[in-house]
Amino acid sequence: MRVIGIETSCDETGIAIYDGQRRLLAHVLHSQVALHAEYGGVVPELASRDHVRKVLPLLRQVMAQADTRAADIQGVAYTAGPGLVGALLVGAAIGRSLAWAWGVPAVAIHHMEGHLLAPLLEENPPDFPFVALLVSGGHTQLVRVDGVGRYHILGESLDDAAGEAFDKTAKLLGLGYPGGPALARLAARGNPQRFHFPRPMTNRPGLDFSFSGLKTQAVNSVKQHQDDQARADIAYAFQEAVVDTLAIKCQRALRETGLQRLVVSGGVSANTLLRERLRDMTHELGAQVYYPRLEFCTDNGAMIAYAGYQRLRAGQSEPLAFFAVPRWSMNDLAPP
Ligand code: KG4
Ligand code: ZN
Repeated sequence: MRVIGIETSCDETGIAIYDGQRRLLAHVLHSQVALHAEYGGVVPELASRDHVRKVLPLLRQVMAQADTRAADIQGVAYTAGPGLVGALLVGAAIGRSLAWAWGVPAVAIHHMEGHLLAPLLEENPPDFPFVALLVSGGHTQLVRVDGVGRYHILGESLDDAAGEAFDKTAKLLGLGYPGGPALARLAARGNPQRFHFPRPMTNRPGLDFSFSGLKTQAVNSVKQHQDDQARADIAYAFQEAVVDTLAIKCQRALRETGLQRLVVSGGVSANTLLRERLRDMTHELGAQVYYPRLEFCTDNGAMIAYAGYQRLRAGQSEPLAFFAVPRWSMNDLAPP
């Protein structure tokens, strides 16, 4: 079965073709970073309009790369949420319409399920069950995963997502959008001794997160220390606190579930310090950690094509009406 995946939930247009036998055949991505940079963040209306411009040309490109004609496609998967509703509607409308025109089934994919399954695109994928840490711009979640669609959310952020906290703190430090990678670069010049930020919610039981306090702590530190080196020192302390907190909660999730496999995905999983910390932590526990390749840590079409393939193969498909929802809990997903 050969499936097209379309991702348009935020500021990347990603399209990919996944084949059950030959695996990932091709994927293309257009990032809108340059478009939104001058506004310091994603402008929803600009995002939607750019997706409208890019989806069909990228589709032609990916089909050419995969040597695939319309007649070879057996299903279409599109991201239906969560995300920016205007942006989602572009991918959903085009994806559903193409499937109708081609006479094949279409399936609506949960963006975070895409991230969660992305490491399964790699060589030596993890077996189920595993614990997944999803760390993106919109979500921070720990999920027990027993199979496709068998998800149990163990904990999540009660306020800002980890990526959102990175982005907001980066903005405060005068760094561009998206802030995560820029903050990590600045932190590399930081003095480890200067500031210490707390590890929120680690001294009580549970697997929920809260990152908005760290952002406030950064605001206060910036107000009190105006020198240039202070910016790097604050970036250092902030990154340490976020990464340490994530590692502590992952360790707790592995211990509490008794599972030996940890999957880490979403934009922040590209962070080098996080990878170092999780490598050491899992090594200590005798557990294994799995990531998508770097380019599939952030938003992409391949993860949507793969999740779509898994669900379409199991017989799931959507009626002709389509939907896109800005908020959508993974607890509402069922196995296909
Ligand atoms: O998964 P993603 O591409 O989009 C969402 O679904 O939100 O994640 C984007 C987020 C942004 O907040 C970005 O700043 C963060 O991932 N990010 C990073 C790094 N690379 C991307 N945060 C910290 N360190 C990085 N190296
Ligand atoms: Zn994402």
